[in-house]
Amino acid sequence: MLTKRRIYEFDEFRVDTGLFLLSRAGRARPISPTVFKILLSLLERAGEAVTKEELMKCVWPDSFVEEGNLNRNVSTLRKVLEEKPSDHRYIETIPKTGYRFVAPIRVINYQPPTGTARTVSNTRAYQIVGREFERDTLSQAYDRAQQGRGDVVCISGDVGVGKTALIDAFLDDLKRDGQTFHLARGRCSESFTEGEPFMPWIESLSALAQEPTISTVMAKSAPSWHREISHNGSGVPRRMHRELLEFCRQISPVHPLIIVIDDFHWADVGSVDLLAFLATRLESTRVLMIIAYRVVEMKVKSHPFLRLRSDLLGRGACTEIRLAPLTRKHIEQYLAIEQPNADYPPDYAEILHAKSDGNPLFLRELLRGRDEKSDSIRHMIRARLDRLDDTHRQLLVTASVQGREFDSAVLAATMQMHSEDVEEALHELDELHGLIQRIREEELPDGKFSVRYRFVYGLHQEACYASLAPTRKAALSAALAEAFLTHYGN
Ligand SMILES: Nc1ncnc2c1ncn2[C@@H]1O[C@H](COP(=O)(O)OP(=O)(O)OP(=O)(O)O)[C@@H](O)[C@H]1O
Ligand SMILES: [Mg+2]
Repeated sequence: MLTKRRIYEFDEFRVDTGLFLLSRAGRARPISPTVFKILLSLLERAGEAVTKEELMKCVWPDSFVEEGNLNRNVSTLRKVLEEKPSDHRYIETIPKTGYRFVAPIRVINYQPPTGTARTVSNTRAYQIVGREFERDTLSQAYDRAQQGRGDVVCISGDVGVGKTALIDAFLDDLKRDGQTFHLARGRCSESFTEGEPFMPWIESLSALAQEPTISTVMAKSAPSWHREISHNGSGVPRRMHRELLEFCRQISPVHPLIIVIDDFHWADVGSVDLLAFLATRLESTRVLMIIAYRVVEMKVKSHPFLRLRSDLLGRGACTEIRLAPLTRKHIEQYLAIEQPNADYPPDYAEILHAKSDGNPLFLRELLRGRDEKSDSIRHMIRARLDRLDDTHRQLLVTASVQGREFDSAVLAATMQMHSEDVEEALHELDELHGLIQRIREEELPDGKFSVRYRFVYGLHQEACYASLAPTRKAALSAALAEAFLTHYGN
């Protein structure tokens, strides 16, 4: 019998010698130990004739058993494999001699799972609230990958809405469920967007290859990647694409492989191409790929992943989870978990919800600094506004004088600009920058056409308003009052 744990695969069947498990399309098939041993003896010498004596010696080494017994067990094995007596797809009878396993098989040496330690979050400082549906979606995709139907799941959402925290929580869920899987996790970095190709993939594969057996498989099936992660030179992209796919297949016969690439809005072009290659080839693998990104960030930079994303979504080749802000109820749960004994005013969750607009990062920072806006929020908002060109920034700052919601026509009058120019710029601030949301078109009392907008985050509106010097504030308020009089009358 075998001493080394192996996996045999033929058609949809898979035999794990370590677990004594026969499965078909990911589902275990009941099989007795005797029948399993016969199957193993045949697989071990696939393509060769195995005599009845050899089989009996292997299966019943210490007892005398009649040949009829062996024949009955082989017939049971054929039933387990759903093979009709006349059909010799898997087991061929060699008259008066023995049997031969005839179907093509794949033999894989077992590798223990690696990388599960990364499931322990190194970024998540809080237990997350809500996201049950999203965790469920990920978990279903994992189940499918386990059954050999790999997939790509994208997680999109605004800065700080909880993409990374969701991935951490999902990986923790799997760990708690006792699932074992290989994990390759990396992230794109803003500073690597242009230069180094494949950085996030290299980072994720380096983590995986810490395990010597995985590293050995990589050296054989994906030598270019092995060279990359060992800093021994770089490969040819096309070959690297194929090598990576082969490597993913090789290491995931038993435990699925989860590849996570976070912050994909900063991915280099090579990494996007590689994703395009893999995304449509995972169907018959045990690979679950999770990609997280901010759409707004990509739109601003016309990132190449935008096109691929539309293409994959259009073809149904990936699932996208769009993370929404937290609700007031979630914030109540959050407070109960974080500070169970704190004595908050009854409407505290409501206030926090209004102030943070349900963004977990804003929420965390608001709680840290209590009601004072913390430095980190200030920096984040500043950075986002600083990326705008002068006209856009000026428009937002002036709009903030109207409040959280504002009218485009009133804004145009306040700034003494053409309505069409203002509308076009506001459209960009909405579609491209995601800073404001169009609510509706309307006709003002003086008959003028206008579009009503709303700041996505109240904190952005407050920051814009706070950036005005007192005299400018007064001047803009006066101009606004006049514009209101013009459009709304007395
Ligand atoms: N559902 C949640 N419940 C509680 N806290 C959360 C939740 N989601 C996120 N957080 C917390 O909010 C903060 C921001 O979350 P996270 O880093 O996951 O956001 P992100 O979407 O990945 O942002 P970025 O686009 O910057 O990568 C973290 O401190 C995280 O722990
Ligand atoms: Mg993140």
